[in-house]
Amino acid sequence: MDNEHRGFTSNIGAILAAAGGAVGLGNIWRYPYMLGQNGGGAFLLVNLFFVLAIGIPLMMTEFVIGRRAQSNVVGAYRKLSPEHKGWTVLGYFGILAAVLIYAFYSVVAGWTLNYIVMACTNQLSGLSPAEVADTFANFTAGSFWPVLYQFLFLTLTALVISFGVQKGIEKISKILMPVLFILLLLMVVRSLTLPGAKEGLHFLFHPEFSKLSGAGVLGALGQSFFSLSLGMGAMITYGSYIRKEDSLFKTSLWISVCDLMVAILAGVVIFPAVFSFGMDPAGGPQLVYVVLPNVFNSMPMGALFAAVFFVLLGIASLTSTISLQEIIVAFTVEELHWSRRKSSLISMLVIFIIGVFCTLSFGPLKDATLFGRTIFDLFDLITASYLMPIGALAMTIFLGWFYPKVEVQDEITNGGALKGKLFEVYYFILRYVAPLALIVIIVSGIVG
Ligand code: PFF
Repeated sequence: MDNEHRGFTSNIGAILAAAGGAVGLGNIWRYPYMLGQNGGGAFLLVNLFFVLAIGIPLMMTEFVIGRRAQSNVVGAYRKLSPEHKGWTVLGYFGILAAVLIYAFYSVVAGWTLNYIVMACTNQLSGLSPAEVADTFANFTAGSFWPVLYQFLFLTLTALVISFGVQKGIEKISKILMPVLFILLLLMVVRSLTLPGAKEGLHFLFHPEFSKLSGAGVLGALGQSFFSLSLGMGAMITYGSYIRKEDSLFKTSLWISVCDLMVAILAGVVIFPAVFSFGMDPAGGPQLVYVVLPNVFNSMPMGALFAAVFFVLLGIASLTSTISLQEIIVAFTVEELHWSRRKSSLISMLVIFIIGVFCTLSFGPLKDATLFGRTIFDLFDLITASYLMPIGALAMTIFLGWFYPKVEVQDEITNGGALKGKLFEVYYFILRYVAPLALIVIIVSGIVG
């Protein structure tokens, strides 16, 4: 199939679509609270290291697999390794990870819809910090509205997906990503001018290594996978849409820079505000929904900012849910030969059925726990700390040890058109550094 017609139409389109997949709740919602629970700047530094040393090479690895094979995650392994069918299992593993992530991710994405509605109808302004916290707790514990919003979010995502790669995914990313960035910068300026901002910045950038446990380090690696959407085939799928003439290294670098910047800026928005309102920086998953409304309440035209911010949080989530569903849809379209419409609809319904359990784990199912964790927490832990690192390890072994080096080099240098001076560095990381780091992390996660 002609790549021009199959995938993204430009490099900037590819970067924005993949950055859209990467930048999401993981950056604005998850990163800040992980950071808050794990020694602030110490977590940031470890995460930064993982992104540079392992994240970027792994993203290139996924792009190589996807673009070389011109195929979805299952088809990619089958095509690149026709005589060893076992590798195809990895593809299904990726689909499973996508399903589990999308199931819990859509819960929080649905919350953003509720907050958009509340902000637009002025229900958030004028509330005391305690009332803001109560509003969140009451809403998430319900069993109707959170489920409805989750369903709406899934529907919206499926709608974009059904328009296709160029007219749906690429088009929407090109519009929404720049807007997200501008709005985030506006929020940064507002947050930094709050009293107490300095303390928040100190917390964010001053590394407290004593607060960073082994689990925190595992969390930082899990976060870098989660945030860059690595280890389960999202980037294999998008990689298959990248034009043959684009540099996979530069594309990966830009995506990672965007992703990191948004995560750090989100921290700069949130922590000064947390300290300014005397809240607990280790507040957990509800940090964004409980803290930010207070920030908005304190600023001129706060209601407007609140509305815009939650719209943008919704948008950031949307470009990510699109990339999650596209993993599944690309598979059903290419392997099962379903139409894009049918694929979008059926995969959405399956996710909804599983996802409802995650939503209800904040309310009626909150006592349904395993190892002390709710269904939602379990899905989050299993995917970010285990499935994604194990998937990534398998990818490095596949590309670094089984797939011929010349082919890898050919794909990275675009058939020799690019110089590829750093190729040996990349290949060394691919074969040794990344797998070793991943093994250590996976084993330490299991043991400890
Ligand atoms: N990277 C997204 C985020 O940080 O919110 C989450 C994600 C999207 C993970 C897509 C995996 C994925 F395939």
